[in-house]
Amino acid sequence: MDIPNTSPTRLERDTDASWSRAAPWLPVALAILYPWALRAFHAAIATGSTAGAIGAGLWLAVAFALPLAGLVLTLVDDPLPAVGTLGPAARRLGFAALAAPPLFVLTGVVAGLLHSPVRDVWIWPVAWILAGVTASLARSPDAPAPTRASGRLRVVHGVTGALILLFVAFHLSNHLTGLFGPEAHGRIMKAGRVIYRSSIVEPLLVGLLLFQVAVGLRLAWRWSAGRMDLARTIQVGSGAYLAAFILTHLNSALVSARAVHGIQTDWAWASGAPDGLLLDAWNIRLVPHYALGVFFVVAHLFCGLRGVLLAHGARPAVVQRVWWAGLGLAAALSATIIAALCGLRLG
Ligand code: HEM
Repeated sequence: MDIPNTSPTRLERDTDASWSRAAPWLPVALAILYPWALRAFHAAIATGSTAGAIGAGLWLAVAFALPLAGLVLTLVDDPLPAVGTLGPAARRLGFAALAAPPLFVLTGVVAGLLHSPVRDVWIWPVAWILAGVTASLARSPDAPAPTRASGRLRVVHGVTGALILLFVAFHLSNHLTGLFGPEAHGRIMKAGRVIYRSSIVEPLLVGLLLFQVAVGLRLAWRWSAGRMDLARTIQVGSGAYLAAFILTHLNSALVSARAVHGIQTDWAWASGAPDGLLLDAWNIRLVPHYALGVFFVVAHLFCGLRGVLLAHGARPAVVQRVWWAGLGLAAALSATIIAALCGLRLG
């Protein structure tokens, strides 16, 4: 009996390989365009006209859409018939493109700290092109989803996350009080600093965060070796964003502002005073950076909660509703804190 030959022909294999080399360039393109969307925002708002303000709003939407498209890419997995499936390397670059907002802040701050003669907008595309070349040379095929082998790492990640949550809950509540002005924010921060900036808690907090980033990246690497569903994609994507956000934020606050420039890390520093976050050409990058930082930290927690509830036999339909509510809460909290940082006041 003739057995049908279902294995790909040499031509099909070659075509597949060349297209999988093309796939990483999609997230690279998204990331390279990101700073230009911010520039276009600033150019539009600087005109001071109504048309300029509308244009600026559209460019800001593009600046948010570009990194988020990186996440969508990893979810769709075969985004364009001509590009073929993503594969692990391009999928990971998709997550890196999602983290473009903190990575671009980090590039700018580090370039400043090193007194780089080359501006961040030029370092940025070169770094992404190098990442694209590396990813298009990688040939690892999709792997099956990780099994129980990563179970212990996940428990450690959850326990450390619960400890960090104590600080993050205070920190974000503190930023909400910015709605009542810098003085109200400063009073709460001063009270909190007695604990989180104490000689015992601060090194512990920073150590836990760095440990969390290392374990989180390890887990994200394993999961991103294969295809993922929506919830897992958001969990891994938010984790990748947070890893970049935490390293960037610690570098900005602890290293650049406090240690090197001796700047007070208060509301004025966070909100880019005196020009503010929207009107300054450098500060505008902090808007997507902070907004997605707040969104993803809450979203990531609800992804973790979803996994715990499902593992304990909760009804999937209820768990799904809790998860969507968590994402809604994350978006509302993020929008409110950003509005406060941009000047919204209650009373
Ligand atoms: C809108 C978003 C955020 C803004 C505006 C912001 C602002 C700030 C400010 C002003 C400080 C200095 C605090 C001080 O001097 O006492 C700070 C420190 C810090 N932030 Fe944030 N933050 C944001 C989000 C986050 C998130 C999501 C995390 C965690 C994932 C985080 C983690 C930290 C840590 C660990 C420190 C260092 C605390 C210390 O030891 O002084 N921040 N942030």
